[in-house]
Amino acid sequence: MSDQPRSQSDDLGLRSIATPPEELDGGAATPRPGGGAPTPRPGGGAATPRPGGGAATPRPGGGAPTQVRSETAAGPSTEVARTRAWVLEEPGADLELTTVELSPPGPEQVLVRIRATGVCASDVHVMDGRLPKPMPFVPGHEAAGEVVAVGDGVHDLAPGAHVVLSILPRCGTCEACVAGRTNHCTWAGDLAGTGTLDGTNTGWHLPDGRALHHFNGVSSFAEHVVSPRSGVVEIDPALPFSQAALLGCAVATGVGAVRNAARVAAGQTVAVIGCGGVGLNVIQGARIAGASRIVAVDLDPEKLALATALGATDVVDAAQQDVRTVVPQLVAGGVDHAFDAIGRPSALEDAFAITATGGTAIAVGLYATDAQITIDAFPLVGERRLAGTYLGGVDPHVDVPALAQDALYGRLELASLIVERAFEDLPDAVADLRAGRTLARQVLTLP
Ligand SMILES: NC(=O)c1ccc[n+]([C@@H]2O[C@H](COP(=O)([O-])OP(=O)(O)OC[C@H]3O[C@@H](n4cnc5c(N)ncnc54)[C@H](O)[C@@H]3O)[C@@H](O)[C@H]2O)c1
Ligand SMILES: [Zn+2]
Ligand SMILES: [Zn+2]
Repeated sequence: MSDQPRSQSDDLGLRSIATPPEELDGGAATPRPGGGAPTPRPGGGAATPRPGGGAATPRPGGGAPTQVRSETAAGPSTEVARTRAWVLEEPGADLELTTVELSPPGPEQVLVRIRATGVCASDVHVMDGRLPKPMPFVPGHEAAGEVVAVGDGVHDLAPGAHVVLSILPRCGTCEACVAGRTNHCTWAGDLAGTGTLDGTNTGWHLPDGRALHHFNGVSSFAEHVVSPRSGVVEIDPALPFSQAALLGCAVATGVGAVRNAARVAAGQTVAVIGCGGVGLNVIQGARIAGASRIVAVDLDPEKLALATALGATDVVDAAQQDVRTVVPQLVAGGVDHAFDAIGRPSALEDAFAITATGGTAIAVGLYATDAQITIDAFPLVGERRLAGTYLGGVDPHVDVPALAQDALYGRLELASLIVERAFEDLPDAVADLRAGRTLARQVLTLP
């Protein structure tokens, strides 16, 4: 991760406000005919400079100046526009709904109108300062929307396309990308650490000219956002936006953790500690994988009821029962795969303690950067493993369209996970998530 970037307010050179926010969507809500075949770019979106953006990495093949290609009523534009975004000045501060200045998409970038965005516990970790990010910034990292305009070099996405945004853009050329581990792309890590879209520019500013930082190229608690092309995935427009949004994080992480981190096989046994937005999708992933027993653990009886509806075979009320005692009673000897989907060190310790011989404990939750765990060392001789996952190890360009089909054909249940809320309700939604007052996933919807 890099140091905090210097302010770009003097670098951008685009100060005019030419396009009012209502023109940003251009009225072009028409889904693409044929509907969203996934079209990953070979090599993904390379790190590219923004117009007026100082000396960033030159574009492979020449670096022509950005010309926004748009079929919208607003027409081509290279001007800065305004949009509303929830801004966090510093960890612990209140979110402020602010009209910000948004630059047009640069090369290999896409302007997206957000239509739905989920509120994930990871947003709260960042807002509370447990996961440091350059500030001020716009949180939100689980979203779906419509393409409004594309920057130079983007030839495979058209305005109106329905897309899921991903915090996993990729350069396609770093060691991790070449090895097929695109979720560990070092260029994407640099964007995440600098809160920029290309290593240099953040793509938007506060009214006072200060650079506004990005959340891993998504920053979806905003009406419009510019994202790297390689983090934008076209999906079947038949899937409602609120369901599509979940594919960007909760579903990718939960189902991906089962498939890629744990590799749950049919007939194996699973326990999931924490049945919120992510944990319920671990349960769904385990059901789809054919797990023979799926033990759901939570403090909230409503979450446990939902877990049962989604495939849990057994439930443990952690407010009443001790996980380490009850789970090995329910599944003799412990489970093959135990997931911490809360993000508490003690839950990960519990997960390890309830794994059977040869089993795996998977850290799905995010922990504070200085969090530590203590486990008994001796059980490791039983070939137990402790594993982590970053967004379920998915390749969004492959897995998100496939998960969309799972949802459309009923293999994945999403509608019952969602509590829709208005965009303006974000502070209340965050308060409800903190207090555990939400059923599964709160999704802000935007017209
Ligand atoms: N690894 C990744 O890439 C990744 C991606 C997304 C989210 N996350 C992390 O996953 C975790 C879960 O996120 P979420 O959005 O589902 O959160 P959430 O708040 O929706 O869910 C947490 C659940 O844990 C339950 N819980 C809390 N304390 C408990 C206890 N002591 N015992 C049993 N259950 C308890 C809550 O009732 C709730 O249902 C967070 O730490 C989040 O940051 C990680
Ligand atoms: Zn998330
Ligand atoms: Zn890379």
